Amino acid sequence: MENMKAVRVHSYGGPDVLRFEDAPRPTPASGEVLIRAHAAAVNPIDWKIRAGYMKDSVPMPLPFIPGYDVSGVVEAVGPGVSHFKRGDEVHARADAVHGHGAYAQFVIAKESEAALKPKSIDHVHAATIPVAAVTAWRALFDTAGLKAGQKVLVHGAAGGVGSFAVQLAKWKGAYVYGTASDSNLEFVQQLGVDRPIDYETTRFEAVVRDADVVLDTIGGETQKRSWQVLKIGGVLVTLVGLNSEDEATKHGARSAAISAQGGSRVLAEVSKLIEAGKIKPIVATVLPLSEARRAQEMNESGHARAKIVLKVA
Ligand SMILES: NC(=O)c1ccc[n+]([C@@H]2O[C@H](COP(=O)([O-])OP(=O)(O)OC[C@H]3O[C@@H](n4cnc5c(N)ncnc54)[C@H](OP(=O)(O)O)[C@@H]3O)[C@@H](O)[C@H]2O)c1
Repeated sequence: MENMKAVRVHSYGGPDVLRFEDAPRPTPASGEVLIRAHAAAVNPIDWKIRAGYMKDSVPMPLPFIPGYDVSGVVEAVGPGVSHFKRGDEVHARADAVHGHGAYAQFVIAKESEAALKPKSIDHVHAATIPVAAVTAWRALFDTAGLKAGQKVLVHGAAGGVGSFAVQLAKWKGAYVYGTASDSNLEFVQQLGVDRPIDYETTRFEAVVRDADVVLDTIGGETQKRSWQVLKIGGVLVTLVGLNSEDEATKHGARSAAISAQGGSRVLAEVSKLIEAGKIKPIVATVLPLSEARRAQEMNESGHARAKIVLKVA
């Protein structure tokens, strides 16, 4: 069996359990593609899984390769794959739950979670899209049904999901409130936020009234205080779990949680917007694959701007 370079986790723990080492190169099964990776983006779920916080809901085979976001070139396809062939440039949500994640030279993804890479961007930028942009799309459009002229509050507007959500909401024609710390206020304004709110000095509920949609990327107190900014019939979409089912009913609103699966349809929609210059992925930091530990530490701080990407080739 051929080997490859990869980052692996042999036991759950802090960032120091991430090991850059040789690992067996995976082979694609039925319906899967094997991608020769150029870049992998970092998401909070990567370190939540690494730390063992999700071992009940997402039990991992040990050792495993973390990472969901990959962009690269199709190396081989498994039986039954009809949309891709060797040599295609693709980006995809990797099959990380089975241990073949994106922090590696060769990565497995289901055909249904892959799409051709937008031609106008490189692999580093394309790797940021499968989790963050697809999540933002599904939350705002598939789940909340955001329409032109509506008002949306995006919490964590400077983050991975937030930076796409702001651009998607503006493209749709919505009015966008966005929370961020002082250091990111100008950044979120450049992304398109109409009314940036410094969450450290201003209570957002004193500014936002009658919102149609709240995108909650933060949870806790932020979620609790968000119900009151919604209009009757408004919707709060949370990415981090609902505190209380009762809150929605109490405020005449509804709540919804999303999952980021079934991505190739949404990837194709997002690609169209990127090719048309309507939205763009923002990469704040690029590190070599061997520095995955540092990349996860930065993301785990909770204050990283837009996306952190590991360059593989
Ligand atoms: N359910 C799903 O399918 C799904 C999918 C994707 C993500 N998620 C989850 O959604 C969350 C966000 O993901 P992400 O990739 O966007 O994370 P991220 O990129 O790490 O987000 C970091 C951003 O959050 C901002 N932030 C921190 N505390 C804040 C607060 N109290 N109020 C407003 N903004 C604050 C920071 O801005 P400042 O530095 O300016 O504070 C930073 O820019 C994570 O917990 C992730 O696991 C779930």
